[in-house]
Amino acid sequence: MPEINLTGLTKRFGAFTAVHPSDLSAQDGEMLTLLGPSGCGKTTTLRMVAGLEEPSGGNIRIGERTIYDSTKNIDVPSENRGLGMVFQSYAIWPHMTVAENVAYPLRMRRVSKAQIAEKVRDVLDLVGMAGFGEKPATKLSGGQQQRVALARALVFQPEILLLDEPLSNLDAKLREHMRFELRMMQQRVGLTALFVTHDQDEALTLSDRLVVMNQGRIEQIGTPEEIYERPATRFVAEFIGKGNMIEIAGHIDHSGDGAAFDLPTFEAPVRIVLPPKSVRVAPGDAAALTKAQPCLFIRPEKIAMLAPQTAAQNGAVHLPGRISGRAYSGDHHEYLVALNSGMSLKVKSAGGPRWDVDAQVALAIAPTEMVLYK
Ligand SMILES: Nc1ncnc2c1ncn2[C@@H]1O[C@H](COP(=O)(O)OP(=O)(O)OP(=O)(O)O)[C@@H](O)[C@H]1O
Ligand SMILES: [Mg+2]
Repeated sequence: MPEINLTGLTKRFGAFTAVHPSDLSAQDGEMLTLLGPSGCGKTTTLRMVAGLEEPSGGNIRIGERTIYDSTKNIDVPSENRGLGMVFQSYAIWPHMTVAENVAYPLRMRRVSKAQIAEKVRDVLDLVGMAGFGEKPATKLSGGQQQRVALARALVFQPEILLLDEPLSNLDAKLREHMRFELRMMQQRVGLTALFVTHDQDEALTLSDRLVVMNQGRIEQIGTPEEIYERPATRFVAEFIGKGNMIEIAGHIDHSGDGAAFDLPTFEAPVRIVLPPKSVRVAPGDAAALTKAQPCLFIRPEKIAMLAPQTAAQNGAVHLPGRISGRAYSGDHHEYLVALNSGMSLKVKSAGGPRWDVDAQVALAIAPTEMVLYK
């Protein structure tokens, strides 16, 4: 299946820029997810690829084919772009049966009756809805309707699949189940897919790579692991997962390659020395520009809880603290550990001893697991 390439793609609505010039590409057979808060420009980007929204500038290619180019006056109509689409409101036609709903794109393309019957049967099989063809569309559950919408998007064997929050109308359990189904099906068919969601769990589990957007700009593109483990900007760090973000009030020494500063605790201040790759200020990090204060970022599951006075190992930083809160969540405990009167860290602990509130502990953190956002 072909790649999708967006170059300098831009959308303005009057004086407002919904999508700043953006470059991204989805590779052959890749599930690429656009993720970001409400209003960041995900749907607008997808609609431009779909040919439902005219860009203000830039270029869209599908494989070797340019389907939009502002400078060359190329704008291939939506129906000729070879795209299957499922949108948030997936609009199953209630007055038709399942088979009639699915057959619709084929009828539009003047496919023969015999071929339609065969293709509809095959695609219903693919989405796990074999035998449902004659059912009225209104007699389906939400998840079944979702699959019919998917079948309808796939029936004419598009090269590209565009999905805009296709699972958002489903309840939590069904949504999770459909995530895996969708992923397996996309992989089985080998489709190149652009998926839009504002749900980070969905994005992390479904995608080959993620594009994190903020206010019409791309903050980071990477695999789920890269985005989660090495957020490039403060915005990405705060948006994905639960993290500790501590403002560093004191002096930061940048004279070495990395950064060094003191973290005040109930006991003596602890000197933290970070390697260069743990210090980041990314261009276009909108959040960093508005919040001038440097922040230290640490994931709760990267912090180990030890008995106080345990000797430090492998270069880990030890911070003395006192447990001020604890919550049990089935497979792990979450602790709140106060380092001083104004500063606490969330710690996620899946194994090891259970600590009581008020216990004195040492928090061990590897400097490579800390990131300083300037
Ligand atoms: N037709 C339009 N006219 C004017 N502004 C628009 C139009 N369509 C979208 N916008 C604005 O562009 C911005 C991006 O909208 P978009 O629908 O792409 O966001 P989104 O990332 O899909 O958000 P959500 O998660 O809420 O669906 C928003 O500020 C929105 O108000
Ligand atoms: Mg949207």
